[in-house]
Amino acid sequence: MSKGKTILVTGGAGFIGSNYCRYVLENHPDYRVVVLDALTYAGNLSTLVDIQQKYAGRFQFYPGKIQDETVVCGIIRAEKVNYVVNFAAESHNDRSILDPGSFIQTDVYGVFTLLDAVKRFDVERLVHISTDEVYGTIDSGSFTEQSPIEPNTPYSSSKAGGELQARAHRITYGTPTLVTRCGNNFGPFQYPEKLIPFFVSRLIDDKKVPIYGSGQQVRDWVFVMDHCSGIDFVLHNGALGEAYNIGSDGELTNMEITHRLLKLLDKPESLIKHIGDPRGGAHDKRYSIDASRLKGLGWKPAYEFEEALERTVKWYVDNQGWWRDIVASPDYQAFVARFYGKYLGEDL
Ligand code: NAD
Ligand code: TYD
Repeated sequence: MSKGKTILVTGGAGFIGSNYCRYVLENHPDYRVVVLDALTYAGNLSTLVDIQQKYAGRFQFYPGKIQDETVVCGIIRAEKVNYVVNFAAESHNDRSILDPGSFIQTDVYGVFTLLDAVKRFDVERLVHISTDEVYGTIDSGSFTEQSPIEPNTPYSSSKAGGELQARAHRITYGTPTLVTRCGNNFGPFQYPEKLIPFFVSRLIDDKKVPIYGSGQQVRDWVFVMDHCSGIDFVLHNGALGEAYNIGSDGELTNMEITHRLLKLLDKPESLIKHIGDPRGGAHDKRYSIDASRLKGLGWKPAYEFEEALERTVKWYVDNQGWWRDIVASPDYQAFVARFYGKYLGEDL
């Protein structure tokens, strides 16, 4: 076990990054965690309040963008950073259809800036968090790490651009990079624009939930703490230059997920609203991850799906202040009106 390391977690005020901070601070009592986050619409300081209180001496937050070389280099030098784990990204497919440019700025150019800083300051390891969506869609079987990179959306193509730079930096300059590709996450602190928290927050208020197209699209769901343990395993045990899939055999159609949410919240099926497909051709039909490579190295998921989903729904019921502040914000209201307005009409 590595001793006394300092990890720079970029994007640590977002959903997965903040859960990863919790995972590290709990599981590595001699580690220090430093967060750099631009606090975009998706980043929220209230997500870090419990961490700041519980781990005050081992945690530091810096506001700023990963594209800002001066800020990134300044933090790596001042904090004597050993490892970088990059979660910072524009992360929502629907927003990428509306505004693809911001995805290139962060998910492509931002990764380049981090890689250059890691090279310059001899950081020991950088884990870049990518996604199974870089593989595109698969009708049968599962994506392995050897599957071709064939992204279909502005989001997934910008993520592919980011991770391919990590690969090329390793080959060209010897930069110590690793890449992870995980499926759709769910859990506490997920911004309520993604399927599960969007639907849960609406169902709690008896609002209709919009199903895109047939609802037969398949996603391979992973509880966020399993993703975090997988990332931490790769950070400490992965081979430099390699990419690792992270998954826990959680394939379900969107209709199946929606029915589970209705049941957990005791809400009627009449709250389901089938709409056209706002993603059109960019709506990937199925994701499916083969995580046997990482499992073969000794990692395994710890959470059972149904229990983790129930725990997640309960978290949104018990922590309404957290998501109600977001749902009331002008940015959220504008996005929902712009993206869903024509489909939901009076049910908005
Ligand atoms: P999120 O949108 O909840 O959080 C992203 C965070 O990055 C926010 O705190 C935001 O403020 C910050 N950020 C955005 N642009 C930044 C910039 N230029 N500089 C610094 N900080 C910036 O995203 P998430 O769901 O937590 O996803 C985290 C990472 O995991 C992303 O890279 C995403 O592609 C990847 N991923 C997500 C999922 C998923 O299901 N959510 C699955 C696989 C991989
Ligand atoms: P999402 O949570 O946005 O993740 P991703 O695009 O990364 O898979 O969407 C998950 C699935 O749910 C995807 O097939 C689109 C669908 N979906 C809906 O049907 N309605 C919605 O309102 C949302 C947000 C998603």
